[in-house]
Amino acid sequence: MNICIIGTGHVGLVTGACFAEIGNQVICVDNDEEKIGTLKKGKMPIYEPHLEELVKKNVDEGRLFFSTLIEEGVSKSSVIFIAVGTPPKENGEADLSSVEKVCSQIARNMKDYKLVVEKSTVPVQTGQWIKRLFNLHDSHQDFDIASNPEFLREGSAIHDFLNPDRIVIGVENERAANILKELYSPIIKRSFDSSLKSSLVNHIPLLITDLQSAELIKHASNSFLAAKISFINAVADICERVGADVEKVAQGMGYDPRIVPAFLEAGVGFGGFCFPKDLQAFIQIAGKFNYDFALLKEVERINKDRPRRLVEKIEEALWVLKDKTIGILGLAFKPDTDDMRFAPSIEVINLLQKEKAKVKVYDPVAMDRAKMILKNVEYGKNPYQVAEGSNALVIVTEWSEFRDLDLAKTKSLLASPIIVDGRNIFDPAKMKKLGFVYKAMGR
Ligand code: UDX
Repeated sequence: MNICIIGTGHVGLVTGACFAEIGNQVICVDNDEEKIGTLKKGKMPIYEPHLEELVKKNVDEGRLFFSTLIEEGVSKSSVIFIAVGTPPKENGEADLSSVEKVCSQIARNMKDYKLVVEKSTVPVQTGQWIKRLFNLHDSHQDFDIASNPEFLREGSAIHDFLNPDRIVIGVENERAANILKELYSPIIKRSFDSSLKSSLVNHIPLLITDLQSAELIKHASNSFLAAKISFINAVADICERVGADVEKVAQGMGYDPRIVPAFLEAGVGFGGFCFPKDLQAFIQIAGKFNYDFALLKEVERINKDRPRRLVEKIEEALWVLKDKTIGILGLAFKPDTDDMRFAPSIEVINLLQKEKAKVKVYDPVAMDRAKMILKNVEYGKNPYQVAEGSNALVIVTEWSEFRDLDLAKTKSLLASPIIVDGRNIFDPAKMKKLGFVYKAMGR
């Protein structure tokens, strides 16, 4: 099939590369000339494992192209995916101005039937708005609108795309459903040739729904996962008060097949460009339809409080923070990404600086991005440089590099043997035995 992907962010780029990988002709369009220039040179504007090799392979084999011109993408394709950003406005509502702009450009340029697919995370009923906009343009061209939400995790996005746990398609007729079914058939039948296939499940559910339900599935899924994290973080606070261990509580809960262990890791909370923004957007759109989603407001409140809880623990260990040096390990919102958007590290550092502490940081891949955001911090070349002379070492992101730290060496470098673990990566008994003052979350 001939496909156009508009927007070359994390979602657009991974989607484009993967659709090319399963045999389609794909043109990825973005109005950012610098980004397209970088991609044409074979360089990636983001860090995502395996993306560079996949893009290179598909460009070399003549299936993947880049352009700054929407008209080129529209004229060469029958299926157009919208994967532009939907960032939060000040009130938390999703800003759909890029979606609207792109749709107007598609409507102006289409000369034959197009299937236009929402891939960006959008609030429910966006598909209806897009339909109205196309009708307003009165281009007399035949079109369908579909919603096909993505469930890609940064750091394993390519694996998630090629090995999804479900494919959701929201459509208004069989024609649109059949096109998308055919497009995804190599993934469902697993008939594509990729070295990236791994841990396969036997059956991938393909769920075909109406437009509104597909749009809601995305917001509801992310909000539900966010709620699981805030739930376990609330339980962590109770564990601390009563002398229980949240890791054990989560383990005991997770054996229940109705609960499952995933997303029950207590810590400094969730970040990234999906959970915080989708949660806010879901609360806002629910409000617009006169539903006060108080449950999700509490999920958000608990999460926003996590960095403060972590800093409180540092204070409990050090008493006064002024002029103390705090070493931070991990800046990205989670391991295996350089993404700093809504990363808890930003608020943790902000709170420490408000108390006039000195901050040293290290992250295996996010330091270049961090330099654009953080002010007055010292960057270490490795965890040990950060530990050296610090009054406390704080784990904010659970990179595997930190799990494998030489703890004896770390202890000898620290000014005082204090580790505050925002991700519960160490065993408290072992840390105590090694002579650390070890503070974790909910243990
Ligand atoms: C998420 C969804 O998982 C994905 O399906 C969606 O399409 C995009 O949003 P992503 O933002 O890449 O993906 O990260 P994810 O791995 O889900 O983690 C989100 C945040 O939750 C991270 O900050 C992580 O550290 C935190 N988290 C996760 C916890 O604090 N505890 C957990 O148990 C799990």
